Amino acid sequence: MDDQHGILMDTMNELRLAVVRGLGREQVSEVLDRLIEFTRMHFSSEEKLMEQHFFPGWEEHRAEHQRILAQILQSAHRVQHGEQMQMRPLLCFLQEAYSEHIESTDREYGPWFNGRGVD
Ligand SMILES: [Fe+2]
Ligand SMILES: [Fe+2]
Repeated sequence: MDDQHGILMDTMNELRLAVVRGLGREQVSEVLDRLIEFTRMHFSSEEKLMEQHFFPGWEEHRAEHQRILAQILQSAHRVQHGEQMQMRPLLCFLQEAYSEHIESTDREYGPWFNGRGVD
């Protein structure tokens, strides 16, 4: 999971660079799509693992995943359909949502999994 978090953060960085460098909507959308695809994959692997090992907080954790994903999808939809959109607030939101999720919510399952021999 740590590797996947690394990839998520790298992709976030890529998105930030694309925005900072003033790349066009298409390029920004392309990175955003990749971020969404990877996020889906990562969230669902975490959810499967939590379910398999009966992690007590899995429902709340999944709800948080759904909230984050819904926000990203909504923002991506706006960017991709040419609506006027401030990219910086979107970036701030994503950065905050991901870091907070990884640093607090995701930390909760670590000891649970480790105690059950899951890496
Ligand atoms: Fe995670
Ligand atoms: Fe998570």
